[in-house]
Amino acid sequence: MTVIPDGFIWGAATAAYQIEGAATEDGRGESVWDRFCATPGKVRNGDTGAVACDFYHRYPDDIELMRELGLDAFRFSIAWPRVLPDGRGPVNQAGLDFYDRLVDSLLAAGITPFPTLFHWDTPQVLEDAGGWPARATAEAFVEYVEVVADRLGDRITHWVTHNEPWVVAWIGHAWGEHAPGRTSETEAIAAAHHLLLSHGWATEVLRRAAPDAEVGIVLNLEHVDAASDSPADLDAAREMDGMANRWLLDPLFRGAYPTDMSYEPPVQDGDLATISTPIDFLGVNNYFRFVVRASDNGGGPHVVKDPDAPMTDMGWEVHPESLHKLLVRVARDYAPRAMYVTENGAAFGDVRVHDGLVHDPERTAYLEQHVDAVLRAAADGAPMKGYFAWSFLDNFEWSLGYAKRFGIVYVDYPTLERVPKDSFYWYRDLIASRKPAIA
Ligand code: FCB
Repeated sequence: MTVIPDGFIWGAATAAYQIEGAATEDGRGESVWDRFCATPGKVRNGDTGAVACDFYHRYPDDIELMRELGLDAFRFSIAWPRVLPDGRGPVNQAGLDFYDRLVDSLLAAGITPFPTLFHWDTPQVLEDAGGWPARATAEAFVEYVEVVADRLGDRITHWVTHNEPWVVAWIGHAWGEHAPGRTSETEAIAAAHHLLLSHGWATEVLRRAAPDAEVGIVLNLEHVDAASDSPADLDAAREMDGMANRWLLDPLFRGAYPTDMSYEPPVQDGDLATISTPIDFLGVNNYFRFVVRASDNGGGPHVVKDPDAPMTDMGWEVHPESLHKLLVRVARDYAPRAMYVTENGAAFGDVRVHDGLVHDPERTAYLEQHVDAVLRAAADGAPMKGYFAWSFLDNFEWSLGYAKRFGIVYVDYPTLERVPKDSFYWYRDLIASRKPAIA
């Protein structure tokens, strides 16, 4: 195995709606995901996050498991509608209390809390008032961040503003497959712009509230390969790279949207300076690469799938070398001060067998190969500071419900029992391997 850089953080990631449950408890307001799940036909099997992994109540036991794992950091998200049930205005102290307890419990276990302020659960009242396509939602987000920073800012050393604005914009606002289920490209592009803008504003708020903390954003990024060396396929790959990667990296790191793209975001004076406010780290979520060829009819890039390639249960190709290439390229082209892989992992059809355990050799192999790719990227100059496995627990996989298991800990949904999978023990041993043995 390649060398592990000094101080490298080993983590695991989750998100509020996917694990917390307790959807109507202690004054939590409705989020767009509650509404989406309640809309027939939107989520597989009619699943919802109403109970999920019941992390809201079971977090002390889960932190015990994290301690057994030897985790350095735990990435979770804060549910905006728990803190501000009406999106803005009156603060729900009981909701904030939960995150206060969670943070204190993590710190007591020696685990760094790594909160994300927005992992997709927009308060439904704000969606009804225009949602992310409206600039007012970006303004409301900043008020929410002020409230959270005021309560937790004395203890949080790493803040993530947003998780995957690309997915929120495109899958939620153009394709309608995620909440809020809109189907307008114009709205998707406006939503992304307002997410980026609110990231910049939030960064300024967090810097004022917690000057020593590190602030970053998490993007889903994917390496793109052309299916052949033909000029048309190479152009298609460049176009795909624009849509998947440069569209958000350029404004964040260069203060300008790419000039080779035809999108027209609703930019106002000063927005791009705000969006490109320097950040302390870039979080990269990565699960697959794209292979593309030019469309026969001159349309956009066409994604090609090799039916013989190894795939996860999501139908995503397993291709660790692309993660290495992606990290080295992002470091070279955008020079972030620090980078974390904030999500990486795989769903497989895990079953609990007669010995009561869950044997997941494919996930262990996936994690091992991808960790190696990250460490090789670090050796090749990318400023890698940590790796977070997605996910700590099996959880609610958005429109696919509970059908896809990404956890290194299995969740038996009828009883909510936790069963560490073999990959959990592999990760525990990896984490332990870099710590000096106690004589
Ligand atoms: C990412 C999301 C995360 C999870 C993984 C599988 O896009 O950030 O919540 O669903 O995919």
